[in-house]
Amino acid sequence: MCGIFGIITNQDISVGKIVFEGIRRLEYRGYDSCGIVSLTDSQLIVKKDSGKIDDIQKRIDLSDFPLSSKIALAHTRWATHGPPTKENSHPHLDCTSKIAVVHNGIIDNFIELREELSSNGHVFKSDTDTEVIPHLIEEFMKQNNNDLKGSLREALKKIKGSYALAACYAEDPESIIVARKESPLVIGIEEGKTTYCASDIPAFLPLTRSCYIMNDNEIAVLKSGEVEFFDRKTGQFIEKELQLIEWSIDAAEKGGYDHFMLKEIYEDPMALMRTMKISQRELSLLAHMLWSADNIYITAAGTSFYASLAGKFIITKFLGKYIHAIECSEFKNQLENSLKDNAIIIALSQSGETIDTIEAIRWAKKKKNIKIITVTNVVGSSLTRYSDKVIVTQAGPEIGVAATKTYVTQVLTLALIALEIAKLRRIETPEEIEKYYNALKSTPQIIEKFLNENVELINEIVKTLEKSVNFFFLARGISIATAKEGGLKLKEVACRFIEGYSAAHAKHGPISLVREGFPIIFVAPPDETYQRLIGNVMEFKSRGGKIISLVAEDDTKIANLSDMVIRIPQPSDKYHNIFSPITFTPALQLLAYYASISSNLDPDKPLNLSKTVTVH
Ligand code: G6P
Repeated sequence: MCGIFGIITNQDISVGKIVFEGIRRLEYRGYDSCGIVSLTDSQLIVKKDSGKIDDIQKRIDLSDFPLSSKIALAHTRWATHGPPTKENSHPHLDCTSKIAVVHNGIIDNFIELREELSSNGHVFKSDTDTEVIPHLIEEFMKQNNNDLKGSLREALKKIKGSYALAACYAEDPESIIVARKESPLVIGIEEGKTTYCASDIPAFLPLTRSCYIMNDNEIAVLKSGEVEFFDRKTGQFIEKELQLIEWSIDAAEKGGYDHFMLKEIYEDPMALMRTMKISQRELSLLAHMLWSADNIYITAAGTSFYASLAGKFIITKFLGKYIHAIECSEFKNQLENSLKDNAIIIALSQSGETIDTIEAIRWAKKKKNIKIITVTNVVGSSLTRYSDKVIVTQAGPEIGVAATKTYVTQVLTLALIALEIAKLRRIETPEEIEKYYNALKSTPQIIEKFLNENVELINEIVKTLEKSVNFFFLARGISIATAKEGGLKLKEVACRFIEGYSAAHAKHGPISLVREGFPIIFVAPPDETYQRLIGNVMEFKSRGGKIISLVAEDDTKIANLSDMVIRIPQPSDKYHNIFSPITFTPALQLLAYYASISSNLDPDKPLNLSKTVTVH
């Protein structure tokens, strides 16, 4: 949930400035507080405070450290244990102020450890779980000849929970020690010169493209331009392969856009084009797996869950088997007594780090003969380690907290699997399948055209809705997923209350809220649900609802009933309709973005949210 960044170098560079920029690139992981520690002349200098990095920077220069300093660690926090105060900000130190730790994760047994350490005389300054780590290391330093790596290993034996952490010791200017369990950690390297550690690759991408991905239960010793990996439990040396990251730096930066969210919406088409290239062999393998499974579940959180709802619909159409879609946090609760054997779980996660998704599949795998197919955007993420098959969507790094381009690539990936199933089962003629493929291939152009031609219209709609705080997003069939995802975006970045709901079911309750001018957005592709949706539009219109409809290019019926119309430039045929969650959602992403701007909010940093949720 938090972000960590570290550097060790033998070059004449300002480590303060580098970690400051590095941690800023990780601010999407949490922005309750920020802190940096650097090691100079056997002393740890700490600067930290609560608030967003740029606001703190106005009060204290977080990047100003002596040039002789060759080690620095930084942290950006999403508060879990203790409020977002200066005291609770990382880095945390031991009693001697010689050991500093930055940490992302949760120490589950911190209360017991804290009590034990306190009774041994340790004094704590924060409410955090993290603070037990430097104190535990301090305990073991005495027995380990002040060896930081050995002491950290001992400390980690006592810790239950998850961590990506980095530690340094005032008396050792030659190394940083890092460790990972269930929270992400990557190492970037400029050989012979500088080594970085970070929660995510974009943090050091402008500095190096060479990186190592750490696995669970590994420890690494970082020296200037060198790194060595060890098994945390056995202490054995681990050989690791250096990876070359091909993402453009541009993709990890804001480019010419005001916000990452806007940039990433405009990257929808490119992300889809890249994802279209997922190997046919891989897809065909997944199609076979799903075809031979007796039971199929799909699970995820947030936007990924809404992508699951859309994907489940598309796969079911061609597979002819029911797919149980269950939110990951409810997976165990709902299936405790009914989880079936010979089953497959499709787990969707942009980050691959959502703890509830990881826990759901780990629980299921322990219980039954189950195979896991993971669809994620992050190579080497934790979820991939517990999976039998992994498909990586090609959205590229997504920095905006609200997921946008990763949503469309998730749905596309599931749609590609669905078409492989159609081929395998021969339930459609090759000509028909070709038409579905062509419709799928045309999705980037449809979105690009929409984004290029509709900014003015979207802003006009935003203006008319400026004063509205409550909205319904309604639809039928597959478009319920679009309504829920579009509504979620507006909720997240524009702070409005949204009910994303089935248009038919909305008359059993929600309709009682409708008064003159109440805004209702109908997602209305011309599919088999369209005729009945007309009736639902009329029900809400006749009660004074302000109708905004999202329709296909040549729509007349629902468009004529609407106060405002958003037209998606796509043909009205069954081949395109089934993929409408891909082509219709970007319009709602854009609506949410401009609604956020018109409300003077920061769409990249929605209140109380974090991009990667690693707590239950
Ligand atoms: C958080 C993010 C959402 C995301 C959800 C699931 O709530 O703010 O944007 O959809 O986590 O994350 P995942 O990485 O598993 O897709």
